[in-house]
Amino acid sequence: MQRFYIKSGNSLKGALTVDTAKNALLPILAASIMVEGEVTILKATRYSDIDAMCDILSYLGAVIKWQEDTLIIDGSGINGSDITLSQSSKLRASIFALGPLLARQKIAKVAYPGGCDIGVRPIDIHISGLKAMGAHIIEKNGFIYANGKNMKGGDIALSFPSVGATENLMMAAVLTKGKTRLFNVAKEPEIVDLQAFLNSCGAKISGAGSDCITIEGVKRLNKKVTYQAISDRIITGTHLLACAMCGGKITLNNVNPSHNDALISYLRKSACQLDIKNDKITMKSQGRLKSFGEVETATYPGVPTDLQAQIMALQCISEGSCMIVENLFESRFKHVPELIKLGGDIRCKNNICFISGKEKLYGATVLAKDLRGGAGLVLAGLVADGYTTVEGIGYIDRGYYKLENQLRLLGADITREEF
Ligand code: UD1
Repeated sequence: MQRFYIKSGNSLKGALTVDTAKNALLPILAASIMVEGEVTILKATRYSDIDAMCDILSYLGAVIKWQEDTLIIDGSGINGSDITLSQSSKLRASIFALGPLLARQKIAKVAYPGGCDIGVRPIDIHISGLKAMGAHIIEKNGFIYANGKNMKGGDIALSFPSVGATENLMMAAVLTKGKTRLFNVAKEPEIVDLQAFLNSCGAKISGAGSDCITIEGVKRLNKKVTYQAISDRIITGTHLLACAMCGGKITLNNVNPSHNDALISYLRKSACQLDIKNDKITMKSQGRLKSFGEVETATYPGVPTDLQAQIMALQCISEGSCMIVENLFESRFKHVPELIKLGGDIRCKNNICFISGKEKLYGATVLAKDLRGGAGLVLAGLVADGYTTVEGIGYIDRGYYKLENQLRLLGADITREEF
Protein backbone atom coordinates (compact mmCIF):
# COMPACT_ATOMS: atom_id res chain seq x y z
CA MET A 1 0.00 0.00 0.00
CA GLN A 2 1.11 3.54 -0.63
CA ARG A 3 0.50 6.88 1.06
CA PHE A 4 1.57 10.51 0.78
CA TYR A 5 3.74 12.02 3.46
CA ILE A 6 3.47 15.81 3.49
CA LYS A 7 5.46 18.40 5.45
CA SER A 8 3.69 21.74 5.44
CA GLY A 9 5.04 25.25 5.31
CA ASN A 10 6.37 25.74 1.77
CA SER A 11 4.90 28.39 -0.48
CA LEU A 12 4.54 27.33 -4.11
CA LYS A 13 6.56 28.68 -7.00
CA GLY A 14 7.44 27.59 -10.52
CA ALA A 15 5.73 26.32 -13.64
CA LEU A 16 3.87 23.15 -14.54
CA THR A 17 2.39 21.75 -17.73
CA VAL A 18 -1.11 20.43 -17.03
CA ASP A 19 -1.90 16.87 -18.15
CA THR A 20 -4.56 15.78 -20.61
CA ALA A 21 -8.09 15.51 -19.19
CA LYS A 22 -8.99 12.08 -17.83
CA ASN A 23 -12.65 12.81 -18.43
CA ALA A 24 -11.95 13.63 -22.07
CA LEU A 25 -9.69 10.59 -22.62
CA LEU A 26 -12.10 8.02 -21.15
CA PRO A 27 -15.00 8.59 -23.61
CA ILE A 28 -12.53 8.98 -26.48
CA LEU A 29 -11.04 5.58 -25.65
CA ALA A 30 -14.53 4.08 -25.50
CA ALA A 31 -15.41 5.72 -28.82
CA SER A 32 -12.36 4.02 -30.35
CA ILE A 33 -14.33 0.75 -30.04
CA MET A 34 -16.26 1.99 -33.09
CA VAL A 35 -13.22 2.79 -35.22
CA GLU A 36 -12.14 0.02 -37.59
CA GLY A 37 -8.58 1.25 -37.82
CA GLU A 38 -5.78 2.82 -35.90
CA VAL A 39 -6.41 5.65 -33.43
CA THR A 40 -3.34 7.47 -32.12
CA ILE A 41 -3.84 9.55 -29.00
CA LEU A 42 -1.04 12.02 -28.28
CA LYS A 43 -0.13 13.02 -24.73
CA ALA A 44 -2.39 10.35 -23.27
CA THR A 45 -1.74 10.78 -19.56
CA ARG A 46 -1.55 7.36 -17.96
CA TYR A 47 -3.98 7.74 -15.04
CA SER A 48 -4.91 4.39 -13.50
CA ASP A 49 -8.46 4.85 -14.90
CA ILE A 50 -6.96 5.02 -18.40
CA ASP A 51 -5.15 1.70 -17.84
CA ALA A 52 -8.46 0.19 -16.66
CA MET A 53 -10.21 1.40 -19.84
CA CYS A 54 -7.33 0.05 -21.98
CA ASP A 55 -7.82 -3.36 -20.31
CA ILE A 56 -11.47 -3.28 -21.39
CA LEU A 57 -10.51 -2.40 -24.98
CA SER A 58 -7.93 -5.23 -25.16
CA TYR A 59 -10.46 -7.67 -23.73
CA LEU A 60 -12.84 -6.69 -26.54
CA GLY A 61 -10.13 -7.44 -29.12
CA ALA A 62 -8.34 -4.12 -29.67
CA VAL A 63 -4.55 -4.02 -29.84
CA ILE A 64 -3.14 -1.43 -27.44
CA LYS A 65 0.36 -0.01 -27.72
CA TRP A 66 2.07 2.67 -25.65
CA GLN A 67 5.01 4.60 -27.10
CA GLU A 68 5.96 6.83 -24.18
CA ASP A 69 2.87 9.02 -23.75
CA THR A 70 1.40 8.18 -27.17
CA LEU A 71 -1.37 5.61 -27.04
CA ILE A 72 -2.14 3.63 -30.18
CA ILE A 73 -5.41 1.69 -30.35
CA ASP A 74 -6.04 -0.64 -33.25
CA GLY A 75 -9.70 -1.59 -33.09
CA SER A 76 -9.87 -3.38 -36.44
CA GLY A 77 -9.97 -6.77 -34.70
CA ILE A 78 -12.62 -5.96 -32.07
CA ASN A 79 -14.92 -8.96 -31.85
CA GLY A 80 -16.13 -8.96 -28.23
CA SER A 81 -19.42 -7.53 -27.05
CA ASP A 82 -19.36 -8.10 -23.29
CA ILE A 83 -17.47 -6.65 -20.35
CA THR A 84 -16.77 -8.64 -17.21
CA LEU A 85 -18.08 -7.78 -13.76
CA SER A 86 -14.59 -7.04 -12.44
CA GLN A 87 -13.83 -4.70 -15.36
CA SER A 88 -17.12 -2.84 -14.86
CA SER A 89 -16.70 -2.57 -11.12
CA LYS A 90 -13.26 -0.96 -11.51
CA LEU A 91 -14.49 2.21 -13.15
CA ARG A 92 -17.69 4.15 -13.65
CA ALA A 93 -16.66 4.99 -17.21
CA SER A 94 -16.99 1.29 -18.18
CA ILE A 95 -20.61 2.22 -18.95
CA PHE A 96 -19.23 4.28 -21.87
CA ALA A 97 -18.61 0.99 -23.68
CA LEU A 98 -22.35 0.30 -23.90
CA GLY A 99 -23.18 2.87 -26.63
CA PRO A 100 -20.15 2.11 -28.84
CA LEU A 101 -20.64 -1.69 -28.55
CA LEU A 102 -24.28 -1.38 -29.54
CA ALA A 103 -23.27 0.83 -32.46
CA ARG A 104 -20.53 -1.48 -33.72
CA GLN A 105 -21.56 -5.00 -32.65
CA LYS A 106 -25.33 -4.41 -32.35
CA ILE A 107 -25.21 -6.37 -29.12
CA ALA A 108 -23.68 -5.72 -25.69
CA LYS A 109 -23.54 -7.09 -22.16
CA VAL A 110 -22.10 -4.88 -19.42
CA ALA A 111 -22.34 -4.97 -15.65
CA TYR A 112 -23.49 -2.03 -13.57
CA PRO A 113 -20.50 0.28 -13.31
CA GLY A 114 -18.41 0.89 -10.19
CA GLY A 115 -16.14 3.87 -9.61
CA CYS A 116 -15.83 6.34 -6.74
CA ASP A 117 -18.51 6.03 -4.09
CA ILE A 118 -19.90 9.57 -4.11
CA GLY A 119 -23.56 8.65 -3.78
CA VAL A 120 -26.12 6.81 -5.83
CA ARG A 121 -24.98 7.01 -9.42
CA PRO A 122 -27.84 5.65 -11.50
CA ILE A 123 -27.61 4.98 -15.23
CA ASP A 124 -31.32 5.32 -16.00
CA ILE A 125 -30.76 8.26 -18.39
CA HIS A 126 -28.26 6.19 -20.43
CA ILE A 127 -30.69 3.27 -20.57
CA SER A 128 -33.85 5.24 -21.36
CA GLY A 129 -32.02 7.16 -24.11
CA LEU A 130 -30.80 3.95 -25.75
CA LYS A 131 -34.29 2.47 -25.48
CA ALA A 132 -35.71 5.60 -27.14
CA MET A 133 -33.31 4.93 -30.03
CA GLY A 134 -34.84 1.47 -30.40
CA ALA A 135 -32.39 -0.66 -28.39
CA HIS A 136 -33.91 -3.64 -26.64
CA ILE A 137 -32.53 -3.72 -23.09
CA ILE A 138 -33.01 -6.16 -20.24
CA GLU A 139 -31.53 -5.53 -16.79
CA LYS A 140 -30.96 -8.78 -14.91
CA ASN A 141 -28.73 -9.93 -12.02
CA GLY A 142 -26.57 -6.81 -12.12
CA PHE A 143 -25.99 -6.98 -15.87
CA ILE A 144 -27.42 -5.00 -18.77
CA TYR A 145 -28.16 -7.06 -21.85
CA ALA A 146 -28.72 -4.87 -24.92
CA ASN A 147 -29.61 -5.53 -28.52
CA GLY A 148 -29.27 -2.68 -31.01
CA LYS A 149 -30.39 -4.36 -34.25
CA ASN A 150 -33.48 -2.13 -34.54
CA MET A 151 -31.90 1.14 -33.50
CA LYS A 152 -32.67 4.25 -35.49
CA GLY A 153 -32.32 8.00 -35.10
CA GLY A 154 -34.98 10.23 -33.54
CA ASP A 155 -35.49 13.07 -31.08
CA ILE A 156 -34.52 12.33 -27.46
CA ALA A 157 -34.77 14.69 -24.50
CA LEU A 158 -32.64 13.86 -21.45
CA SER A 159 -34.37 14.26 -18.07
CA PHE A 160 -31.11 15.78 -16.71
CA PRO A 161 -27.99 16.92 -18.61
CA SER A 162 -25.87 13.98 -17.46
CA VAL A 163 -22.31 14.10 -18.82
CA GLY A 164 -21.96 10.33 -19.17
CA ALA A 165 -25.40 9.80 -20.70
CA THR A 166 -24.84 12.59 -23.23
CA GLU A 167 -21.53 10.98 -24.26
CA ASN A 168 -22.96 7.46 -24.39
CA LEU A 169 -25.93 8.47 -26.52
CA MET A 170 -23.78 10.58 -28.85
CA MET A 171 -21.53 7.57 -29.43
CA ALA A 172 -24.42 5.15 -29.92
CA ALA A 173 -26.00 7.47 -32.50
CA VAL A 174 -22.84 7.80 -34.63
CA LEU A 175 -23.35 4.45 -36.43
CA THR A 176 -27.14 4.45 -36.08
CA LYS A 177 -29.22 4.98 -39.20
CA GLY A 178 -30.86 8.39 -39.59
CA LYS A 179 -30.66 11.65 -37.70
CA THR A 180 -30.60 11.71 -33.88
CA ARG A 181 -31.22 14.93 -32.00
CA LEU A 182 -30.37 14.93 -28.30
CA PHE A 183 -31.99 17.70 -26.23
CA ASN A 184 -31.14 18.98 -22.73
CA VAL A 185 -27.62 17.57 -23.05
CA ALA A 186 -24.57 18.33 -20.91
CA LYS A 187 -22.36 21.18 -22.20
CA GLU A 188 -19.06 20.25 -20.57
CA PRO A 189 -15.84 20.90 -22.59
CA GLU A 190 -15.16 17.13 -22.63
CA ILE A 191 -18.32 16.70 -24.72
CA VAL A 192 -17.14 19.26 -27.26
CA ASP A 193 -13.86 17.35 -27.35
CA LEU A 194 -15.60 14.01 -27.93
CA GLN A 195 -17.50 15.56 -30.85
CA ALA A 196 -14.21 16.82 -32.36
CA PHE A 197 -12.61 13.39 -31.97
CA LEU A 198 -15.55 11.50 -33.48
CA ASN A 199 -15.83 13.94 -36.39
CA SER A 200 -12.13 13.48 -37.11
CA CYS A 201 -12.89 9.72 -37.36
CA GLY A 202 -15.63 10.39 -39.95
CA ALA A 203 -18.72 11.00 -37.77
CA LYS A 204 -21.19 13.80 -38.49
CA ILE A 205 -22.00 15.53 -35.21
CA SER A 206 -22.81 19.17 -34.49
CA GLY A 207 -24.02 21.23 -31.57
CA ALA A 208 -21.79 19.97 -28.72
CA GLY A 209 -21.40 22.74 -26.14
CA SER A 210 -25.05 23.80 -26.65
CA ASP A 211 -28.29 22.28 -25.31
CA CYS A 212 -28.90 20.21 -28.44
CA ILE A 213 -26.57 17.82 -30.28
CA THR A 214 -27.39 16.52 -33.76
CA ILE A 215 -25.88 13.31 -35.07
CA GLU A 216 -26.29 12.14 -38.68
CA GLY A 217 -25.62 8.41 -38.65
CA VAL A 218 -22.76 7.15 -40.86
CA LYS A 219 -22.06 3.56 -41.95
CA ARG A 220 -18.53 3.18 -40.61
CA LEU A 221 -15.73 4.96 -38.81
CA ASN A 222 -12.57 3.82 -40.48
CA LYS A 223 -10.31 6.84 -40.84
CA LYS A 224 -6.82 6.59 -39.41
CA VAL A 225 -6.79 9.31 -36.80
CA THR A 226 -4.27 11.14 -34.65
CA TYR A 227 -5.81 13.18 -31.85
CA GLN A 228 -4.83 15.17 -28.79
CA ALA A 229 -7.51 15.75 -26.16
CA ILE A 230 -8.00 18.90 -24.07
CA SER A 231 -6.11 19.61 -20.87
CA ASP A 232 -7.56 18.70 -17.50
CA ARG A 233 -9.55 21.60 -15.99
CA ILE A 234 -9.85 19.82 -12.63
CA ILE A 235 -6.08 19.41 -12.30
CA THR A 236 -5.70 23.08 -13.27
CA GLY A 237 -8.24 24.02 -10.60
CA THR A 238 -6.53 21.82 -8.01
CA HIS A 239 -3.16 23.53 -8.52
CA LEU A 240 -4.71 27.01 -8.48
CA LEU A 241 -6.36 26.15 -5.17
CA ALA A 242 -3.07 24.69 -3.84
CA CYS A 243 -1.33 27.99 -4.63
CA ALA A 244 -4.22 29.95 -3.10
CA MET A 245 -3.72 27.98 0.14
CA CYS A 246 0.07 27.86 0.31
CA GLY A 247 0.75 31.33 -1.08
CA GLY A 248 3.34 31.97 -3.79
CA LYS A 249 3.34 32.36 -7.54
CA ILE A 250 2.82 29.57 -10.06
CA THR A 251 2.36 29.34 -13.80
CA LEU A 252 0.25 26.59 -15.36
CA ASN A 253 0.88 25.87 -19.03
CA ASN A 254 -1.29 23.94 -21.50
CA VAL A 255 -4.57 25.10 -20.00
CA ASN A 256 -7.77 26.41 -21.49
CA PRO A 257 -8.43 29.26 -19.01
CA SER A 258 -12.08 29.70 -20.02
CA HIS A 259 -12.80 26.14 -18.81
CA ASN A 260 -12.13 27.39 -15.26
CA ASP A 261 -13.98 30.73 -15.43
CA ALA A 262 -16.21 29.99 -12.43
CA LEU A 263 -13.29 29.12 -10.12
CA ILE A 264 -11.16 31.98 -11.41
CA SER A 265 -13.79 34.57 -10.57
CA TYR A 266 -14.01 33.23 -6.99
CA LEU A 267 -10.21 33.28 -6.65
CA ARG A 268 -10.08 36.87 -7.89
CA LYS A 269 -12.75 37.95 -5.37
CA SER A 270 -10.72 36.26 -2.60
CA ALA A 271 -7.69 38.42 -3.41
CA CYS A 272 -5.62 36.17 -5.68
CA GLN A 273 -3.99 37.84 -8.68
CA LEU A 274 -4.38 35.98 -11.94
CA ASP A 275 -2.73 36.81 -15.20
CA ILE A 276 -4.16 34.89 -18.15
CA LYS A 277 -2.46 34.67 -21.54
CA ASN A 278 -3.56 32.20 -24.23
CA ASP A 279 -2.99 28.75 -22.75
CA LYS A 280 -1.21 29.96 -19.63
CA ILE A 281 -2.38 31.06 -16.19
CA THR A 282 -0.05 32.74 -13.72
CA MET A 283 -1.41 33.08 -10.22
CA LYS A 284 -0.12 34.91 -7.15
CA SER A 285 -1.50 34.42 -3.66
CA GLN A 286 -0.42 36.07 -0.41
CA GLY A 287 -1.56 33.13 1.72
CA ARG A 288 -4.65 33.57 3.90
CA LEU A 289 -7.54 34.61 1.61
CA LYS A 290 -11.06 35.92 2.05
CA SER A 291 -13.62 33.14 2.15
CA PHE A 292 -15.66 32.34 -0.97
CA GLY A 293 -18.86 33.14 1.02
CA GLU A 294 -21.27 30.88 -0.81
CA VAL A 295 -20.47 28.27 -3.46
CA GLU A 296 -22.83 25.92 -5.30
CA THR A 297 -21.65 23.14 -7.54
CA ALA A 298 -23.42 23.08 -10.89
CA THR A 299 -23.21 21.70 -14.39
CA TYR A 300 -20.79 23.49 -16.74
CA PRO A 301 -20.05 26.42 -16.81
CA GLY A 302 -20.77 26.48 -13.04
CA VAL A 303 -18.37 25.42 -10.29
CA PRO A 304 -17.56 21.74 -10.95
CA THR A 305 -18.48 19.18 -8.31
CA ASP A 306 -15.02 17.71 -9.00
CA LEU A 307 -13.48 20.79 -7.31
CA GLN A 308 -15.84 20.89 -4.32
CA ALA A 309 -13.49 19.07 -1.91
CA GLN A 310 -10.45 21.13 -2.92
CA ILE A 311 -12.47 24.35 -2.52
CA MET A 312 -13.58 23.14 0.91
CA ALA A 313 -9.94 22.61 1.93
CA LEU A 314 -9.24 26.25 1.02
CA GLN A 315 -12.29 27.47 2.93
CA CYS A 316 -11.03 25.69 6.07
CA ILE A 317 -8.15 28.19 6.28
CA SER A 318 -9.80 31.26 4.75
CA GLU A 319 -10.89 34.38 6.59
CA GLY A 320 -14.62 34.23 7.33
CA SER A 321 -17.21 31.54 6.83
CA CYS A 322 -18.46 29.75 3.75
CA MET A 323 -21.48 27.71 2.73
CA ILE A 324 -20.92 25.00 0.12
CA VAL A 325 -23.95 23.46 -1.58
CA GLU A 326 -23.30 20.18 -3.44
CA ASN A 327 -25.94 19.91 -6.14
CA LEU A 328 -24.63 17.02 -8.25
CA PHE A 329 -23.93 14.09 -5.94
CA GLU A 330 -25.69 13.70 -2.61
CA SER A 331 -22.96 11.92 -0.63
CA ARG A 332 -19.95 13.72 -1.91
CA PHE A 333 -18.78 14.81 1.54
CA LYS A 334 -16.63 11.80 2.50
CA HIS A 335 -13.64 14.14 2.89
CA VAL A 336 -15.41 16.15 5.62
CA PRO A 337 -14.60 13.91 8.65
CA GLU A 338 -10.99 13.76 7.43
CA LEU A 339 -10.74 17.57 7.08
CA ILE A 340 -12.17 17.80 10.61
CA LYS A 341 -9.34 15.50 11.81
CA LEU A 342 -6.94 18.14 10.46
CA GLY A 343 -8.75 20.80 12.50
CA GLY A 344 -11.32 22.02 9.97
CA ASP A 345 -14.46 23.57 11.48
CA ILE A 346 -17.17 22.07 9.26
CA ARG A 347 -20.82 21.25 9.88
CA CYS A 348 -22.97 19.53 7.26
CA LYS A 349 -26.68 19.03 6.79
CA ASN A 350 -27.96 17.10 3.78
CA ASN A 351 -26.15 18.52 0.75
CA ILE A 352 -24.88 21.69 2.48
CA CYS A 353 -21.69 22.28 4.48
CA PHE A 354 -20.87 25.32 6.60
CA ILE A 355 -17.19 26.03 7.07
CA SER A 356 -15.71 28.50 9.54
CA GLY A 357 -12.24 29.41 8.38
CA LYS A 358 -9.45 28.93 10.95
CA GLU A 359 -5.97 30.37 11.06
CA LYS A 360 -4.40 26.94 11.30
CA LEU A 361 -4.96 23.28 10.55
CA TYR A 362 -2.88 20.59 12.26
CA GLY A 363 -1.17 17.60 10.63
CA ALA A 364 -2.70 14.13 11.14
CA THR A 365 -3.19 10.82 9.35
CA VAL A 366 -6.21 10.94 7.04
CA LEU A 367 -7.81 8.57 4.57
CA ALA A 368 -8.84 9.40 0.99
CA LYS A 369 -12.20 7.80 0.24
CA ASP A 370 -12.64 9.04 -3.32
CA LEU A 371 -10.57 10.70 -6.03
CA ARG A 372 -11.33 14.43 -5.66
CA GLY A 373 -11.89 14.20 -1.90
CA GLY A 374 -8.38 12.74 -1.72
CA ALA A 375 -6.99 15.72 -3.62
CA GLY A 376 -8.72 18.03 -1.13
CA LEU A 377 -6.94 16.23 1.73
CA VAL A 378 -3.56 16.62 0.03
CA LEU A 379 -4.16 20.38 -0.29
CA ALA A 380 -5.11 20.60 3.37
CA GLY A 381 -1.95 18.62 4.23
CA LEU A 382 0.19 21.21 2.44
CA VAL A 383 -0.83 23.83 5.01
CA ALA A 384 -1.62 21.77 8.13
CA ASP A 385 1.00 22.47 10.80
CA GLY A 386 3.62 19.71 10.96
CA TYR A 387 3.21 16.46 9.06
CA THR A 388 0.19 14.91 7.35
CA THR A 389 -0.14 11.41 5.98
CA VAL A 390 -2.78 10.73 3.33
CA GLU A 391 -3.71 7.06 2.93
CA GLY A 392 -5.98 5.57 0.26
CA ILE A 393 -4.06 7.31 -2.52
CA GLY A 394 -5.06 4.68 -5.09
CA TYR A 395 -8.17 6.84 -5.51
CA ILE A 396 -6.05 9.91 -6.24
CA ASP A 397 -4.03 8.03 -8.88
CA ARG A 398 -7.25 7.45 -10.83
CA GLY A 399 -7.30 11.07 -11.94
CA TYR A 400 -3.92 12.65 -11.10
CA TYR A 401 -0.73 11.24 -12.60
CA LYS A 402 1.96 11.26 -9.90
CA LEU A 403 0.41 14.23 -8.09
CA GLU A 404 3.34 14.28 -5.67
CA ASN A 405 5.81 15.00 -8.52
CA GLN A 406 3.64 17.86 -9.79
CA LEU A 407 3.43 19.45 -6.36
CA ARG A 408 7.14 18.87 -5.67
CA LEU A 409 7.95 20.66 -8.93
CA LEU A 410 6.06 23.63 -7.50
CA GLY A 411 8.08 23.49 -4.28
CA ALA A 412 5.84 21.43 -1.97
CA ASP A 413 7.36 18.87 0.39
CA ILE A 414 5.42 15.69 -0.41
CA THR A 415 6.60 12.13 -0.99
CA ARG A 416 4.97 8.83 -1.84
CA GLU A 417 5.92 5.97 0.45
CA GLU A 418 5.09 2.30 0.86
CA PHE A 419 3.62 1.12 4.14
C1 UD1 B 1 -18.98 12.86 -14.97
C2 UD1 B 1 -17.53 12.93 -14.61
C3 UD1 B 1 -17.37 13.18 -13.12
C4 UD1 B 1 -18.13 14.41 -12.70
C5 UD1 B 1 -19.59 14.33 -13.19
C6 UD1 B 1 -20.36 15.62 -12.94
C7 UD1 B 1 -16.51 11.43 -16.24
C8 UD1 B 1 -15.81 10.14 -16.47
N1 UD1 B 1 -16.90 11.66 -14.97
O1 UD1 B 1 -19.54 11.76 -14.27
O2 UD1 B 1 -15.98 13.36 -12.85
O3 UD1 B 1 -18.14 14.51 -11.30
O4 UD1 B 1 -19.62 14.09 -14.61
O5 UD1 B 1 -19.76 16.68 -13.57
O6 UD1 B 1 -16.66 12.24 -17.12
N2 UD1 B 1 -27.62 10.75 -13.14
C9 UD1 B 1 -28.82 10.07 -13.10
N3 UD1 B 1 -29.03 9.09 -14.03
C10 UD1 B 1 -28.13 8.79 -15.00
C11 UD1 B 1 -26.90 9.51 -15.04
C12 UD1 B 1 -26.68 10.49 -14.08
O7 UD1 B 1 -29.66 10.30 -12.24
O8 UD1 B 1 -28.40 7.91 -15.83
C13 UD1 B 1 -27.35 11.80 -12.12
C14 UD1 B 1 -26.16 11.41 -11.21
O9 UD1 B 1 -26.56 10.59 -10.16
C15 UD1 B 1 -25.71 12.78 -10.74
C16 UD1 B 1 -25.98 13.68 -11.95
O10 UD1 B 1 -26.91 12.97 -12.76
O11 UD1 B 1 -26.50 13.20 -9.67
C17 UD1 B 1 -24.75 14.01 -12.77
O12 UD1 B 1 -24.12 12.81 -13.19
P1 UD1 B 1 -23.36 12.69 -14.56
O13 UD1 B 1 -23.30 14.04 -15.22
O14 UD1 B 1 -23.91 11.56 -15.32
O15 UD1 B 1 -21.91 12.30 -14.06
P2 UD1 B 1 -20.96 11.19 -14.66
O16 UD1 B 1 -21.08 11.16 -16.13
O17 UD1 B 1 -21.13 9.93 -13.88
